Amino acid sequence: MGSVVPPIAAPFPSALTAPGATAGTWVTLLDVAELPPAAMRRVTHGELDLLVVHTPAGVVVTDDRCPHMSAPLSIGTLDGCVVACPLHEGRFDLCSGNPVRMPTTGGLDPDGVYHSTWSPSGGEPKIDPPGLKAEARRLTRVRRLRYYPVRIVAGAIEAALPVPGG
Ligand code: FES
Repeated sequence: MGSVVPPIAAPFPSALTAPGATAGTWVTLLDVAELPPAAMRRVTHGELDLLVVHTPAGVVVTDDRCPHMSAPLSIGTLDGCVVACPLHEGRFDLCSGNPVRMPTTGGLDPDGVYHSTWSPSGGEPKIDPPGLKAEARRLTRVRRLRYYPVRIVAGAIEAALPVPGG
């Protein structure tokens, strides 16, 4: 019978560290047994809703808010490092922090480049009548994911979280 290998903290681009996390405090989020490979969990700590994911590269912790319009990614689907949002078909790489597919609504990518609306079936994009809502979609920028540093200590997954008011 093989022993279970404990998860590791996945590396992430340091430029994408969540504001305040570097000077934050370590907080226990889950026992490692609660996060098997390919699992995603939402953990709420104060005002923070966190997405805790066991990717092939290790455990990552980000905000549980889609970088597009803030839907909870924890109820999306995971394929390797890529999480698919339950709204608008956006896909995001948890290992790099980058979007890998723009939402169906179009809008601006992280570099500010405009992408038009599209249809998941490859058919005609949904009609987007001109007006304030269409303008809001056009100006919505997809962000890169932000990360909270992770460590595994004595069978627990911990993340460095900003100190409230700190
Ligand atoms: S809220 Fe996630 S793709 Fe739009």
